[in-house]
Amino acid sequence: MATRDEQQAMDLASLREDYSRAGLTEDDLAPDPISFFHRWLREAVEAGLHEPNAMVVSTASPDGLPSSRMVLLKGLPAEGFVFFTNTHSRKGEELAANPHCALLFPWHPLERQVRVEGVATPLEEDIVAAYFASRPRGSRLGAWASHQSRVVDGREELAAAYAAAEARFPDDAPVPVPEEWGGYVVRPESVEFWQGRPGRMHDRLVYRRTPSGWATERLAP
Ligand SMILES: Cc1cc2nc3c(=O)[nH]c(=O)nc-3n(C[C@H](O)[C@H](O)[C@H](O)COP(=O)(O)O)c2cc1C
Repeated sequence: MATRDEQQAMDLASLREDYSRAGLTEDDLAPDPISFFHRWLREAVEAGLHEPNAMVVSTASPDGLPSSRMVLLKGLPAEGFVFFTNTHSRKGEELAANPHCALLFPWHPLERQVRVEGVATPLEEDIVAAYFASRPRGSRLGAWASHQSRVVDGREELAAAYAAAEARFPDDAPVPVPEEWGGYVVRPESVEFWQGRPGRMHDRLVYRRTPSGWATERLAP
């Protein structure tokens, strides 16, 4: 816990940036948000951002309590945003009860963020199996060893579970997909592209899904 002196030394109230790198106009937009997201993601990769495909996923429990965590975007087909995880984890259980979720890409060095709201659908088994097979062996064994989000007695319990997975799948034996492991595609209902501008007059352009296709609108910053 920081003391009052330490808090004052941090002086959070004076920590701020003015944003002036770029602007975002209606003319810049692509006809659909996935295409435009591809463009911004490419720019995030080209700018050398650390983990440009990291996103915050927010879910809600059936009684409306929200929770957030980082995951990696692992695919971007026309349907939406793909990530992989343990389907029995907290997020997995919350999505099973309420598939509505929100994604956030915090691309600070580009003075950008992207906010997605949509509905998560579990991915088909063959897509999950193909991605699982592409993961490093250590990650595949780790998936067997970790019942994600469950309470464990200590680090030793995890180490023992990992050793058990190594013994179960020795050497180059194939590591199958654990039953509780899977992935989701989040079909967007809205996607907001945010570009920081001077004087807090940021650009916020939002795509909204309508029965006749994507509509766009500008929001006040
Ligand atoms: C940069 C980063 C990337 C991550 N990527 C994933 C991921 O792709 N899948 C995953 O299940 N957890 C990932 N995690 C761990 C999650 O943030 C989280 O701890 C875990 O999924 C359990 O979340 P839950 O208990 O809310 O379900 C990542 C964490 C960080 C910091």
